[in-house]
Amino acid sequence: MEGDDVTQEQPVGAEDFTDVAETEQRFRDHGYLTDERLATTVFLQTRLGKPVLLEGPAGVGKTQLAQSLAEVTGRRLLRLQCYEGQDESKALYEWDYGKQLLYTQILREKIGQLVEDAVDLEDAVERIAKQDSVFFSERFLAPRPLLEAIDSEEPVVLLIDEVDRADEALEAVLLELLSEFQISIPEVGTVKARHLPYVVLTSNNTRDLSAALKRRCLHLFLDYPDAERELEIVRSKDTGLDDALAARLVDVVRGLRELELRKAPSISETIDWARTLAVLGVSELSSEVLASTLNVVVKYERDVTRAGEALPRLVDPNATVPDHRHGHSHDHAHGHGHGHTHDHHDHGDDDVDGREKRAAKDTPGRHDDAYYGSPGKGPGVRAVTSGQGGRSFAAGRARKRPV
Ligand SMILES: Nc1ncnc2c1ncn2[C@@H]1O[C@H](COP(=O)(O)OP(=O)(O)OP(=O)(O)O)[C@@H](O)[C@H]1O
Ligand SMILES: [Mg+2]
Repeated sequence: MEGDDVTQEQPVGAEDFTDVAETEQRFRDHGYLTDERLATTVFLQTRLGKPVLLEGPAGVGKTQLAQSLAEVTGRRLLRLQCYEGQDESKALYEWDYGKQLLYTQILREKIGQLVEDAVDLEDAVERIAKQDSVFFSERFLAPRPLLEAIDSEEPVVLLIDEVDRADEALEAVLLELLSEFQISIPEVGTVKARHLPYVVLTSNNTRDLSAALKRRCLHLFLDYPDAERELEIVRSKDTGLDDALAARLVDVVRGLRELELRKAPSISETIDWARTLAVLGVSELSSEVLASTLNVVVKYERDVTRAGEALPRLVDPNATVPDHRHGHSHDHAHGHGHGHTHDHHDHGDDDVDGREKRAAKDTPGRHDDAYYGSPGKGPGVRAVTSGQGGRSFAAGRARKRPV
């Protein structure tokens, strides 16, 4: 680590990939299947030296992308897991208080000599204060992931996971890092990156990120893959499930995603389900066997009920669907959040497979911000305030890009 007074070269980008096709192939070789959009974003990140911000529902491979990027490029992965109320010292650096204390105890005599002929208390304090730089130096600095990534001798991949869970204060700290690849430590100086880290930020969209943060990143919304790619992913995991069954299973999961579930099943759940069915030695996908293993893919009781009801139709689109008007009179207790108790009876009856109803509800903002993993941005999601915008604008003018 070197401070302000030492001239350092600009950090250098890397040429880890020759083109988009090669990027896609190398990820594939490491078991991560990208589509062209994702491979292009990663390729551009390595060439432009910009962080990538991946937003999207849970379990679509956001975190895994960073892990695979580290594997593919042979870089070390440093991970900052964000959470609410996270102190920036846990993200940047801390002073190693224990070590400082140990040193002062071992050096008690020496410190005593410093102040033994002090004329009064103030003089003694003054003399101790002069030694501040000894105790607030690199020796006593405990780097946390962000500083570690900047200060690393070797190029690294820095994963800033679930950044939407971090407070805005930490988001502001990230701005300096992401635009200048440097960190200022008042007592030591500014630490500049030797090598540009590949930075991957992920977000589940539990809150809106500031415009300033987004502007510094290549932004990509990672959604559920299409059926073909999802099947390819499942097959690549050697789940042991027959290909034809896996293809049908993917279709069933995609059908479940269209239901209004509290937590839609993700790719990892499709993989888990395939493994489960393979372990059970299932040779035919029936709604009974799927219903008995539904808990592998849906994790809320209400969702299990809804998914269970939809399974016969998803497994066999020609199957007769039980009439909800008679068989499920308790349904109004499921908590749609509608104002009218029997609301769903009024418009659900002619819409046998619920397609119209889902389509009508499939609008951005249908969930509030308590909805974990919702890709939508809705009225319940806090908008960027004018104050934030002002801050980002000011920050944008005051700072220049490093590369
Ligand atoms: N494109 C892909 N290729 C191969 N495997 C994938 C792909 N996408 C997802 N997976 C599988 O899905 C699992 C879940 O992905 P991951 O944990 O990265 O999701 P996430 O988007 O970070 O979810 P969360 O928001 O819950 O953290 C991975 O461990 C991986 O096995
Ligand atoms: Mg993740």
